[in-house]
Amino acid sequence: MSVPFYITTPIYYVNARPHLGHAYTTLVADVATRYHTMAGGDVYFLTGTDEHGDKVVRAAKKENLSPRVYVDTISQLFRDLWPELNISNSNFIRTTDPAHMAVVELVLQKIYDAGDIYFAEYEGLYCFGCERFYTERELVDGKCPDHEVEPETIKESNYFFKMSSYQDWLIDHIRKNPEFIRPQRYRNEALAFLKEPLEDLCISRPKSRLKWGITLPFDNNYVTYVWFDALLNYVSALGYPDGDLFKSFWPVVQHVVAKDILKPHGIYWPIMLKAAGIPIYKHLNVHGYWNIEQGKMSKSLGNVVEPLQLKNVYGLDAFRFFLIREMTFGLDSSFSEDSLVQRINSDLANDLGNLFSRVLSMVHKYLQGVVPKVDPPVEQECEFGLEADARNAVDEFESHMESFQFHNALQAVWKFISQMNKYVDVTAPWELAKRKSSRKQLDAVLSNMLEGLRVISGLIYPVMPDTAATMQKHLGLDPQAPFYLLDQLRTWKAIKPGTQLPKSVVLFPRIDPDKLTAERAAEQEKSNMNLDIKEEITLEEFSKVDLRVATVLQAERIPRAKKVLKIEVDLGHKRTVVAGIAENYTPEELIGKQVIIVVNLKPVKLMGIVSNGMLIAAVDDSGPTLAALDKPVEPGTPLK
Ligand code: ME8
Repeated sequence: MSVPFYITTPIYYVNARPHLGHAYTTLVADVATRYHTMAGGDVYFLTGTDEHGDKVVRAAKKENLSPRVYVDTISQLFRDLWPELNISNSNFIRTTDPAHMAVVELVLQKIYDAGDIYFAEYEGLYCFGCERFYTERELVDGKCPDHEVEPETIKESNYFFKMSSYQDWLIDHIRKNPEFIRPQRYRNEALAFLKEPLEDLCISRPKSRLKWGITLPFDNNYVTYVWFDALLNYVSALGYPDGDLFKSFWPVVQHVVAKDILKPHGIYWPIMLKAAGIPIYKHLNVHGYWNIEQGKMSKSLGNVVEPLQLKNVYGLDAFRFFLIREMTFGLDSSFSEDSLVQRINSDLANDLGNLFSRVLSMVHKYLQGVVPKVDPPVEQECEFGLEADARNAVDEFESHMESFQFHNALQAVWKFISQMNKYVDVTAPWELAKRKSSRKQLDAVLSNMLEGLRVISGLIYPVMPDTAATMQKHLGLDPQAPFYLLDQLRTWKAIKPGTQLPKSVVLFPRIDPDKLTAERAAEQEKSNMNLDIKEEITLEEFSKVDLRVATVLQAERIPRAKKVLKIEVDLGHKRTVVAGIAENYTPEELIGKQVIIVVNLKPVKLMGIVSNGMLIAAVDDSGPTLAALDKPVEPGTPLK
């Protein structure tokens, strides 16, 4: 019977577009999902979006959209991103789903009836511009960061959840279950929070202030606020209280979050579950933060490539591999394109890619691409502990995957890749191929190498499912049968002798960062050249613009007009133009200068003066610079 496994990501706020951080957490959940499928589990993987609250209302307002239209749009961006990253979620929940809202009401009522929710006055720092309370910590120099005004202290009545009564129970639960919050550092952090007395949690907002939320079942004038709505998605998605999914999957649930929301998940959520009489989750897996760094590549171009875009540049599997291999689960990591390229070149192109093409090209060269049949005693003699290495790799991989130490799981696989590379060097099939008498040995070592590649193809499956499938195809495995089950990876000699293998492919081409940077710079130059160029016009259309050379006779400031000058010019006849150049030119320096003027523009009145033409100037951040001629010409000379 398969073992159930339920994994969740946070439901992401729709006040921002999806970014690398969201992608990482969701990828981790996907890797765990795929790993548990390998282990023969029955897996349910939930992600979704968090759509209520004032943050969302403000974001919608900024875009001039109603909250409803706004949340639909951004939620869709998340939903569309996941297939692009090959994420295998079973469900996508939105907190605006009516079924979710009904569960929130049900649980609120249950906890209210049990006496753990009470009504009281709340005093806090309120910014009228933002229409919300601020905590001291959120203020910058004591002011609201958006409106730069000091918030006012106001009082408001609200509903509170009695967390304090569960504090001792929670401390005890965390102590008794060392893996409840992991890695250890976050367990310690949670216990440290709990050293201080827990404050009760304000769970409501009056509708006069926030309408975009779920109405409290016991008071129509209030909506529930943030966590009581959001956290309950993990049970509502399974059809709590009596859905079949809830019955099979809830007891084994594991959450994945980053350190920013440790407190709501490690403190509020278990207490909410306890108060509602729902079993407590099994594990909270907490990871660190990605910090985006400008590496050499992006610096040399002066622009940072949005990390998520890099999957299109380097390939999805390489991108997934980098994120999982680079971050030690639990610690912060920095993301740069340089380190991505480095990892692709060393771990993927060099270690894995070379091994794969080396082995397959030898099978083609020496055995015409046919999987050899092996003589068992010869096989034993040529084995050099490779089978045991493979089994160790599978065992280590399994234990690290189970404990959410993905980078270590990959390290175990790469240790085996390096053992395989050594095996190739030690057995030297190119030498064996030179002597007819070594044919049996040649068959045995190549067969072992193919088996090793099969194990590797299975072990990389959770992180690089497409590459795993490509390897599988080239190893002659049946694409219909799951080839990555852990049990199968513990067997040796599973590839059928006599199978004709297709020609090898390059799994990961080597990247030349200098070439790539040069290509990108050329592309950028091309696009800069096209930038801001107006619609094309014909010569005839251009010839309608009458440009003439004029000599400045007089120039003067206009009272109360800081930016413009009144200028009298000689064009063969006298004319007056008004030009917005007073911040860059003094009247005195203009006199005697030859300038270029559009003379057939319809006259306009500027600052009470009729302007009969327009001066031509280059305009950049420093203001206008007048266009000038190479040498003096007769006033009135046309430009063509
Ligand atoms: O907190 N590095 O939503 P959110 C790694 N709606 N992960 C990151 C990250 C970074 N720099 N930035 C964000 C919310 N994340 C609530 C959750 S759950 C019931 C409600 C990831 O959109 C990480 O998983 O702010 C983090 O916990 C989450 O996005 C926060 O997402």
